[in-house]
Amino acid sequence: ERDGFDHYMLKEIHEQPAALERAINGRITDDNRVHLEEFPPGSFADVGEVHFLSCGTSNHASVYAQQMLRDRGVPAYAFTAGEYATTPAPVSDDTLVVAVTQSGETADTLASLRSANERGARTLAVTNVVGSTAAREADDALFIRAGPEIGVAATKTFSSQVVVLALLVERIVEDVTGEPSAEAEALLSAMRELPSQVDSVVRESTAASLANRYAERAGTFFIGRGVAYPVACEGALKFKEISYEHAEGFAAGELKHGPLALVTPDTPVIGVFSGKHDTKTLNNVEEVRSRGAPVIGVAAETSDHVAGAVDEFLPVPETHPDLSGVLANVQLQLVSYHVADLLDRSIDKPRNLAKSVTVE
Ligand code: F6R
Repeated sequence: ERDGFDHYMLKEIHEQPAALERAINGRITDDNRVHLEEFPPGSFADVGEVHFLSCGTSNHASVYAQQMLRDRGVPAYAFTAGEYATTPAPVSDDTLVVAVTQSGETADTLASLRSANERGARTLAVTNVVGSTAAREADDALFIRAGPEIGVAATKTFSSQVVVLALLVERIVEDVTGEPSAEAEALLSAMRELPSQVDSVVRESTAASLANRYAERAGTFFIGRGVAYPVACEGALKFKEISYEHAEGFAAGELKHGPLALVTPDTPVIGVFSGKHDTKTLNNVEEVRSRGAPVIGVAAETSDHVAGAVDEFLPVPETHPDLSGVLANVQLQLVSYHVADLLDRSIDKPRNLAKSVTVE
C-alpha cells in the first residue's frame, strides 16, 4: 500500500508531480490563458473583494492566494475559519467568499461558510472531495484533484491547493480588470513545468543530511515575505506537527518586533526566498546571523545573492516567483519529514491530531 515507502507522508510527497499534473490538466490553454470549465471568462466580473476561510495548512494556501490577489490589485483577506465563524468580517454584494478545505468537512470552515451563506455572500468551495459538505453547501465548487491523502500531515493537498488557487486568482483578476494580469502568461507557462520541477526537488533534495545536523534544537524559526510568508508558516506547522519540536513561522519583517529575543546559536532560522523581496529578507537574515543563529536559505538555484549569505542552501529550480513557494515548500516538507524520522516520531498519525477536524 505504501509502495515501498516507510510512511504515507513520504509516498504522498513523491506523488506531488502526478497530483499537480491532475490539478492543472485541461486548465491552461495553448496560449497560456486560464481555462476553468466551471468558471468561463466573466464568471467573477462582479467581484470587488475576496475573503478566504480556512484552517491550518489550508489557511496557508489561502494566505498565498491572498498575496497574489493583492499583488494584482484585487482586495483579498485570508481569515482563520474559527475566528470568522464567531467574528465575521462584513460582506457586501460584491464579496466572494472562498472556503479552502481539502476534506470539505472541517467544522470551523463549515461554520464560517454557513455564516457567509446566511449573510448573503456568494460562496465557493475549493476542495479535494467531490460531494463533501463544503462542496454541497457553497454556491460553487472547484476541485483540486490531489487524490486521497492518508498522512495526517497535509502535503500534496497543499501543493494542489496553491496551484488551483493560482489559477483561480488569474481568472478573478482577468474578469475584474477585463484583461489577463501582467503576470498571467509567464505564470501559466511556468506552471506547466512545475510538476517535473517538483519531481527534481524530491529526487535531488539534501534535506536528509541537513536534518541530521539541525534536529533537536531549542527551536526552529521560519521566515519569508510575500508568497514566501505563508510557506514559512506552513514549514513551521509541518515541523512542529510531525517532529514535536518547537517551531514558529513569521513574516520576515516581524522577527525584530519580539521573536528576535529567542534567537540564539541553538535556534536555526530557515529563510524562504521567492525572488521578489529577497534583499529585505536578507537584511533579516543578517539580524539573526549576528546573534549566532545558523541560517538555512531555500531559494532558486540561481540565487547567488542568497546562497552566499546563508550557512546552508537548499536550492529549487527557477520558476515564476509566484510559484516558487510550491517548490520551496517541498524542501521544507522533506526537512520536517527527515527530522521526525530521525526522532522516531509517529509521522503518519502524530499524537493528538486527526485528519479531519469535525468539532469547532
Ligand atoms: C496540517 C493539516 C491541518 C489541516 C486543517 C484543515 O498538516 O493538515 O492543518 O490543513 O485541519 O483541514 P481541511 O483542509 O480539510 O479543512
